[in-house]
Amino acid sequence: DFSNRQNRFLSLTDVSSQYLQMIEGKTKQDPYYPTYHVAPHHGLLNDPNGLSFFNGKHHIFYQWFPLGPVHGLKHWYHVSTEDFIHFEDHGIALYPDCEFDSHGCFSGAAFAEGGMLHLFYTGNHVTEEGIPNPSQVYASMDKHLNITKGRPIAHAPAPGFTHNFRDPVVFKRENIYYMLVGGENKDGEGALALYQGESMQQLSFQGKVTTDLPDAGYMWECPNYFEQDGRGVFIFSPQGELETDKYNFNNVFSVAYVLSDPLDVRKLHYEGKQYIELDKGFDFYAPQTYEDERGRRILIGWLGNSKSDYPTDENMWAHMLTIPRQVTLQRNRLVQQPLEELKKLRLGAETLEQEHNLSSRAFELELSVDPDFTLTFSNRKGESVTFSSNGEEYCLDRSDMTHTFAETYGTKRYALRKYKENHRIRLFMDSSSLEIFCDYGETVFTSRIFIEDLEYLKSDGASGTLYNLGSIT
Ligand code: FRU
Repeated sequence: DFSNRQNRFLSLTDVSSQYLQMIEGKTKQDPYYPTYHVAPHHGLLNDPNGLSFFNGKHHIFYQWFPLGPVHGLKHWYHVSTEDFIHFEDHGIALYPDCEFDSHGCFSGAAFAEGGMLHLFYTGNHVTEEGIPNPSQVYASMDKHLNITKGRPIAHAPAPGFTHNFRDPVVFKRENIYYMLVGGENKDGEGALALYQGESMQQLSFQGKVTTDLPDAGYMWECPNYFEQDGRGVFIFSPQGELETDKYNFNNVFSVAYVLSDPLDVRKLHYEGKQYIELDKGFDFYAPQTYEDERGRRILIGWLGNSKSDYPTDENMWAHMLTIPRQVTLQRNRLVQQPLEELKKLRLGAETLEQEHNLSSRAFELELSVDPDFTLTFSNRKGESVTFSSNGEEYCLDRSDMTHTFAETYGTKRYALRKYKENHRIRLFMDSSSLEIFCDYGETVFTSRIFIEDLEYLKSDGASGTLYNLGSIT
């Protein structure tokens, strides 16, 4: 019973193997469980962590609470892949087994160098008096995937920050390592702290990074920073109120990005002036990016959101990661495209009919859409999800699903259409997730959808191909 908070801090050793088998059984027989997305064997997955290309493989870690569909004691779980089709399962990478991470190994990042993968994460420790004391912890992984947990490199929130202080990310410039940590400053504003040093294990606090951004919530989670084409790209997951309108920031928590001149580490200044919502769907949070050996910048996010119960909770699991996406800068925007490797999941092509019977719930659509179009995914009872456009805007409507949830935040999401003329969009459906790439990747909707026995796709103003997709293994 996880409504009892105490139970959220139970550890794997407190439960029987029968219990774990039971919840894994429930999870795997859930028809909403995905086939080509990374998802937990049971329990709750949230943020992707430590995304990296290391020793010939893509490494993906994620936040995991094994015992149930709640935010409990977090571990880092680890999988790797060469091609995003075949995955190796490495099990738990980081256990919350030290005093400094007694209440969870929280999110963080990786940095590959010198034949090692260097890991940085937040040790969530709450004192006996109930006072949270987060620290930023170093760990390392060698080529045989042996992980050695190091020690905290920053023992407490930086001066000027509250205990909402976490999710380190590290980069290097001219032999100096920099670590950014997201947080809340003493005035209750989202803020970023900068550390630097000549050794990754010895970084010292430089100060708070100033920006020209308008207020964005009270706490910045999961900062991610990279440079491309001479620009500094900053992605973050702000908590708290953001300015919203019909088209922007309607989720309980959203993800924003900023394009600007690169971060000035000497002046501790990043001059970004405006932030833009990264994804227009209902369920997208805490993405990270990394560069692979081919120089591609790859983004993976959490295909979920906090603060809502999800229909799969009753089967003891929650959430999955998004498909991997390549991100580029185009037309002064961050553009996302499904990673090319995913084409290898295609099993066969069907020409889309106006009333199409779906033979699988794992498929991709590559469609050319008119200014006005409607796509309706439904079952025999007429329960449905609709994605449409009237030429000016897109609308994703999930008000009529079998299982609605998070209605407090609305059941429709809108985005202004950037390319009003006929153009090609791509949609990925996987049992209970839908990722839609429109406007050549400039407008993306990432969402969970829950239609029992999904069977039909009805379309109007759209033509193209449906590919059933195989599973990742
Ligand atoms: C974001 C987040 C992070 C934190 C982690 C804990 O979803 O709250 O800030 O490190 O999840 O699981």
